[in-house]
Amino acid sequence: MIKPDGVQRNLVGEIIARFEKKGYKLAALKMARPERSHLEEHYADLSGKGFFAGLIDYMASGPVVCMVWTGVNVVLEGRKMLGATKPSESAMGTIRGDFCVEVGRNVCHGSDSTDSAEHEIKLWFPEGVCEWDACTNAWIYEK
Ligand code: GTP
Ligand code: MG
Repeated sequence: MIKPDGVQRNLVGEIIARFEKKGYKLAALKMARPERSHLEEHYADLSGKGFFAGLIDYMASGPVVCMVWTGVNVVLEGRKMLGATKPSESAMGTIRGDFCVEVGRNVCHGSDSTDSAEHEIKLWFPEGVCEWDACTNAWIYEK
């Protein structure tokens, strides 16, 4: 997901391009202006944290771009592409390392496990995602 700061800072194309160029396949994409209750559900595991209210304010402050990317090891590798949660610890070359400064404005979200990805896909795309065959498959995967 591209967070409100990523959208406001015109990073949508840049972030999508990185996932496309890596070789992942887009399965769903939409812009949304989620309710606070939806965001509270999305970040429910962090509800006990002192920064939770600020996190929900931040996420509710503007539209977000929600995406589902598919591919081998996409959850783990996609998190590497995002970089560490705190931009001060994110390697240069990662999205957070390259484009942001503070943890409370860290531009993007990525599911942290396949289980949470499945849960989040249902939460953000109850209508389902798009199944399609990419003609580049044989150029990205050996088998
Ligand atoms: P997401 O991909 O957004 O879920 O980030 P993450 O998995 O790298 O980290 P985590 O799930 O622990 O935290 C969710 C989000 O809460 C982070 O991306 C930050 O935007 C915010 N956050 C985490 N820790 C802090 C903190 O110490 N202070 C503040 N202000 N925000 C934080
Ligand atoms: Mg997280």
